[in-house]
Order: sequence, then C-alpha cells, then structure tokens
Amino acid sequence: MSAPQPVYLSDYQPPAYRVIHTELTFDLDPAQTRVKARLSFERHPDVEATTPLFLNGEQLTLTSLAIEGQPLDESAYRVDEYGLTIERVPASFTLESEVSIAPEANTALEGLYQSKGMYCTQCEAEGFRRITYYPDRPDVMATFRVTVIGDKSREPVLLANGNLIEKGELEGNRHFVTWEDPHPKPCYLFALVAGDLKKIEDHFTTMNGRKVTLQLWVEAENVSKTEHAMASLKRAMTWDEETYGREYDLDLFMIVAVNDFNMGAMENKGLNIFNSAAVLTHPDTATDAAFQQVEGIVAHEYFHNWSGNRVTCRDWFQLSLKEGFTVFRDQCFSADTNSAPVKRIQDVSFFRTAQFAEDAGPTAHPVRPDHYIEITNFYTLTVYEKGAEIVRMLCNLVGWDAFRRGSDLYFSRFDGQAVTIEDFVTCMEEVSGVDLGQFMRWYEQAGTPEIDAHGEYDYAHAEYHLTLRQRTPATPGQTDKEPLHIPVRMGLVGTKSGQDLTLTLDGEKQGKDTVVHLRGDEQTFVFTEVAEAPVPSLLRHFSAPVKMHFPYSREDLAFLLTHDSDGFNRWDAGQRLAMLALDDLIAAHRNGVEKVMDSRVTDAYRALLASPTDDKAVLAEMLALPTEAYIAEQQPLVDIDAIHAAREFVRQSLAMALRDEFIAVYEANQSNERYAPTPEQIGQRSLKNVALSYLMSIEDEQAIVFCQTQFEAEHNMTDVRHALTLLVHSDRDEMASPALKAFGEKWAHDPLVMDQWFTIQVTRPQEDALERVKHLMQHPAFSLKNPNKVRALIGAFAQNRINFHRLDGAGYALLADVVIELNRLNPEIAARLITPLTRWQRFDETRQALMHKQLERIKAQPLSSNVYEVVEKALA
Ligand code: ARG
Ligand code: ZN
Repeated sequence: MSAPQPVYLSDYQPPAYRVIHTELTFDLDPAQTRVKARLSFERHPDVEATTPLFLNGEQLTLTSLAIEGQPLDESAYRVDEYGLTIERVPASFTLESEVSIAPEANTALEGLYQSKGMYCTQCEAEGFRRITYYPDRPDVMATFRVTVIGDKSREPVLLANGNLIEKGELEGNRHFVTWEDPHPKPCYLFALVAGDLKKIEDHFTTMNGRKVTLQLWVEAENVSKTEHAMASLKRAMTWDEETYGREYDLDLFMIVAVNDFNMGAMENKGLNIFNSAAVLTHPDTATDAAFQQVEGIVAHEYFHNWSGNRVTCRDWFQLSLKEGFTVFRDQCFSADTNSAPVKRIQDVSFFRTAQFAEDAGPTAHPVRPDHYIEITNFYTLTVYEKGAEIVRMLCNLVGWDAFRRGSDLYFSRFDGQAVTIEDFVTCMEEVSGVDLGQFMRWYEQAGTPEIDAHGEYDYAHAEYHLTLRQRTPATPGQTDKEPLHIPVRMGLVGTKSGQDLTLTLDGEKQGKDTVVHLRGDEQTFVFTEVAEAPVPSLLRHFSAPVKMHFPYSREDLAFLLTHDSDGFNRWDAGQRLAMLALDDLIAAHRNGVEKVMDSRVTDAYRALLASPTDDKAVLAEMLALPTEAYIAEQQPLVDIDAIHAAREFVRQSLAMALRDEFIAVYEANQSNERYAPTPEQIGQRSLKNVALSYLMSIEDEQAIVFCQTQFEAEHNMTDVRHALTLLVHSDRDEMASPALKAFGEKWAHDPLVMDQWFTIQVTRPQEDALERVKHLMQHPAFSLKNPNKVRALIGAFAQNRINFHRLDGAGYALLADVVIELNRLNPEIAARLITPLTRWQRFDETRQALMHKQLERIKAQPLSSNVYEVVEKALA
C-alpha cells in the first residue's frame, strides 16, 4: 500500500455536481443492512458536460446502480477503495443505488454501527461514505427523506433527522418509519438510531411562541439519569434566544444516549447522538464535574443548530468556524449558569496545560490547518479551544454589542450556506469598523506566542513604561512567524494603596483596566500620571492565548494574590508564586540538595484560608497547586521524578503547616443538604475536598477517619469518589482494598461508574499502577472496543506521569501494544491514544530513546491513515 496522501486547502474546488434532494431507505440487519439511495443531482452551470461524477464510498458492497431509472452498464462506471466514478452524466438527473453494509462488524464507530445491539450513526467528518455512495463533503447540502425498516421487537424505536411523517407495519414482524428534514444539510449531519429505547419527553415554547417537543432516548436502566440533561437543554435553548436571538427551527429535538462513541457528542440535525458519559447523570453515579460537563456538552450540541448546521463549513479546513465559535458560546453559557470566575480558571488551566503542549509538539497545526491526511486527527484542542480563544478575542476587540450584530449578520447573510472563516470575520469587521486584517494570522500561524514584558516606574515623571516583546516559536512546516495582533488586558495596582490606579495612556484616560494592543514585534506603552509605584496585572482574564513572562518577585505575586481586582489574575498570581517555589525545589531535587519550603508560599496560603470568601469554588481553585502536567509545561526539559517530588513536598509542607486550618475548613463545609449541582454546593464540596486532599498527603490520622466516613456515608458520587481516590492513592491498602472491592461490586452493573473505578486505580502513584492496568484489562467490564473504557483505563494511566514514564519503558510498551491493537479496531481512538508518546522530545535521553523505540515499533506495522499521520509527524 502506498503512503496516504494529504489534502490541501489551496486545492479547494466547488462541487461539480450538487445533490438537491436525498431519499434513503435502510433495511436494517446486523450483517447485511441494505441502503437504497435516490439522489437528485444538478451539475454546476460553469462545469463542463464531460466532467465525470465522483461519489465517495468506502467499505460498501454495491448491488445496483441506475440513472433516470436506467440500470448502468458496468463499463459506464468505476469503483475503487475510495468511491464510484461515472464517466458521463446529464446536467440534472436522479441516481438510484443500492449497497449493503455490515453494522455489526463496524468497530471504527464511523458510519452505521451497533452499540449494545442498538443501531446508531456517526457521520462527521467523513462517515457517511461508509453508508452509501455520496458526495461526502460539507458544501453539498440537500433535503433528506429517510425510511428506516427494522424488527418490531428488537427495534421498536426507529429515528432519523427532522419530523416523523409516516409509519406502518410490514410483513415478518417488521415495521417502518419515514422521517423528513426540510432544512438542507450536508450529509455529515445525517443520523439514524434504531433500538429498544425509552423516551423522556418535555416541551419548550420558543420566543415566538412555537411549541417544541424535547425527547431524550435512553436504555430502560438509564431513565433515572436524564433529568439534568433535560434541564440543561431547556436552559441552553433559553440562553441562546436571550443572548444570540437564536430560535430552534423544528417541532422536535431529540437526544439519544449510546454506550460506544468516539467523542463526546454529535449535533446531527434534530437528532443529537451523545456518548452516554456526556449526557447521563445521577447524584449517586456522577460527580459534580460530570454534571457540569453534561450541561456544557448538551448546550454545545444544541448551539450547533445555528453555529454549524444552519450555517456550516465550506470544507473541513474551516472546522474551527463552527467549533471555535460554538465552544466560545458554550463557555459563556456555562459561565452564566455557574461561577463565572471558576469556569474561566478551569478552562484556562486546562488550555495552558493541554493546548500549549499540543502547540509545542510535533503535531502542532494552525487553527485553520492548510493540509491534512486524516481529518479526524484535527478534532483537536487547537481547532476547538484555541479557536474559541480567538473568537473570544474577536468579541473583546469589537465589543459585545458589535459582536452580537456581527453574529446576527453572519447568520442572516449565510443561512443555509457552507462558508469560510473569512466570511465570519468579515461580518465582525463590517459591523464594527475594526481592521481585523492582521488578526487573521491567529488562524494561520501555529505555536503559542510568548510575550516578554518589562516594566519600569519613573518616580520623577510619575510614568510607568511597559515594554512588550512578542515571538512565536517555529512549528513543523512554519519557521518564520509574523507578529500577531495581541490584545493585552491589564491594570496597574498601586503598591501603597493596594488599588487599581486610573490609567492614562497617550494622554487619554482609560479607567482602571484597559486593553493595550501589541501589533509589532516590540512596543512600549507609556502610562502617565501614575502617582505611586505599581505592580502590573497583565493579561487579565487571559485576554489572549499566549505565554506572558514578567519578572515578578515573590513579593509582587503575594501582593497581587491579595490585591488584584481581577479574580482570574489573583488566581494566576498564586499559581506563579507556587511555580517559583516549585522551580527551586525541582532544582534542589536534581542537585540532591535538601528541600526547604518557601515560607512566603505557606504564608500566602495561610492568608487565603483566613480570608473571608463568598465564592468557595474560587478559593478551592486558589488552594490547588499547579498539576504535574502544568509544571512540566513550564520546564525546558521535563524531569518526571523531580516534578513529582517537588510537588509532593509542597503539598505535604502545606498540609503540615496548615493542618488545623484544613481540618477546620473540612469540618465547616460538611453538609447534609439534598444533593444539587448548584454552584454553591459544588463550591462547598470542592473546598472541603481540597482540604481533605492536603490532609491525606500526610496520611493524617484524622483525615483517614474523614475519608472513611465520607466514603461510607454515600452521600453523593463527588464525595464518595474523592474519598475512595484518596484512600486508594494512599499507602493504607488495608483500608483502600475493601473500599475498592465494595465499590466495584456495588456498581458492577453501571458502565459509567465502572469507568471511574478503573481510573481511580490506574492513576495511583504507587509502583504497582502498571501491573494493575494489565490486570484490569482482563476484567469483564473492560473492552478495547468501547472508547470510554479505553480512555478510563489506558488513557488515564498515560496521565499517571511517574508510572507511565517508568524508567524500564514498560508504560510506553503497554501504550504501544494497545495502539497497535486498536489501529485495526478503531483508528480514530488509536491515533488519539498515541499523543503522550508524540511528546518524546520533551524528556531526558533515556526516556526519549524508550519512547522513540515504541513509536518506531508502531510505525513498522501496517497502519490506518489516522495512526500513520500521527506517527509520521512524531518521528519527523
Ligand atoms: N461536531 C462534534 C462536536 O463538536 C464532534 C464530532 C467529531 N467527530 C469525529 N469523528 N471526530 O460536538
Ligand atoms: Zn462541536
């Protein structure tokens, strides 16, 4: 087989033939589903009559083919592994085809497949070509009419997009349902579901008084886990009306929960399909984090109905057009319904750890890539999360009112069309008059920009000079970087008053908080009438996805930690302060010098614990140390052992110095209230559990009692899971083992809880973690074919840094073994799983060699294009 070839953005051509209307009939069978398609085509007026018709199609068995009712002679068409070519077709015609496919054999979970016996589909990005011959590209938009035929007992429920228009009985215990979707859509938004499902129904009245039926379809045992998703959906519908003026456009909106799903969820028109982990919750089985995630994902998929479906992408290079915008929308929604500062802290903290790492590694790519081999490899943190940061910057640059007008213009101008990122940005430019020319580079340049900032206070003239210098490191295929337009939100905090100073820039009064625009390589901003020496508070609210370097002293940071008016930067000051101490300790560990705790950090944490707070969730975030993964991101060369040792040392030092305070916090935040995923309750639980984590880091006797009691009380999964994790991650096996066993037996029937049970065990810091992974892979609840299980066991183990990076290389070998096996079963999941190995260049020579060896081993296999592309880049 020849190496898979890349596709280039610059090669884009509009479709020669468009489908106007699509009619499909599915006769379901696990081994042999027959798919009949009746497609009305039209040739583009500018295209020559001699242009052949190409239809994508993979892994299909073609059984009949006709144009205008006339069967095609075998010499009139060609079929290869990518599709079907017909040499000559009329200017407008109807094509009829019949193919057969095998859903039960589909382990890639793309196209039509079976999950626990039920049929479902995943077509984005290019799964539809595994269902029938079709121009599988997002700029071909058609109306769909779909008939599904199934067995009355096994598949009493038959669903597809749009409105149900007909149903009836057939011979042999079979029945059919016909669905019609009046909104033209690309085939990646097609969906079909069939199985024995239960329905939970509710209603929503839109802003114009239309009544929409809302349905959640789940297996019988999951009916009790749907309340939160339904409530989230209604909140999201209201929010999108109030915030963006967007109304739902069909009479029915359905969500289906499936067990086997590659990603979180999918926004198919009127029929969203969700990974069960992204929709099902119950206080006894799901943590607070899961509740919040479900709310965010339900909203995300719903918001796609406009940002994605009504206006879609011209080609897959524009993926961030819908994903960046929609992530930004769901982030704002979650901020509005929860603690807004905590939402931002959590998003940024994740972003700076995971997206920065991606942008610094061999798979770094622009938010709008200019080529790819396998598009499923580009559903990345860069396209989604960095894309959302770009939209957030746009919103801040033009201001909310203009942004909303730009969004209205975008939706009305391009309704029913497949468009580009330029089309979106141009709307923002038109309504605001802001020049966004240079800003477009954010979409084209990969890599995380770094700003070196330098400030000087001139007492004599009462001026503060702030110099910002930007550079973006080279990334694969992009060595020369142009300066970006970087909005830096900032304030100057007076060291005497502890207050934000009023800012005067270029003679103009700015208020206490302003945005300076860095456009060149280097710029100096001169603030006048600065009455006292300030500490600058830079990049407030993380106003741009960059690394900001400023030579803060520990005193500066302790000062900002208490005085910054920007909650986000107060948290960030704490993180920076902890990082300075961690840097020293990492160096001490490497040099074999005795570690000494920086008392300034202890004092700062003591002050935090003593300060009154109304947002407990923020305090919990402030008390949490940077994760090992985040610390690693800050190091030029990652020293796994030193990072772990340094962080443990800080945790334990704080726990010892502040033991009484942590115990007091733990006790003060106990509650017997009925569980609700409210921001107040969640804040209280996270604060209590942060305190418990510190105490357990020194295996305090009192804390062990707290843990045991919290575990046994079974008040809610957040508390139970946290207590169980702390026990399992401690050295108290005599207490951990029975608890783990009891938990595993109690929840053996619940796959989503078993996922948590797996993760808790394989993330423990003790040396036996890897042996536990191997052992658990044999557990009856584990299956390589279920992506959630792979993530819960293998993916989670790869995040267990000290154990995954074992010096004998056994962690890497295990991951490679799984990748090699999954490459055959599910290439998309296999390719994602390699990520930790692709970062090999960040480690010491011994580990580099061990990781490299495993990448070579993978590369020597016959590979899917997904895995091929990632491994190729990693070894380039
Ligand atoms: N559009 C979906 C979402 O953002 C994700 C679909 C991803 N599909 C895939 N094969 N990777 O919600
Ligand atoms: Zn999305």
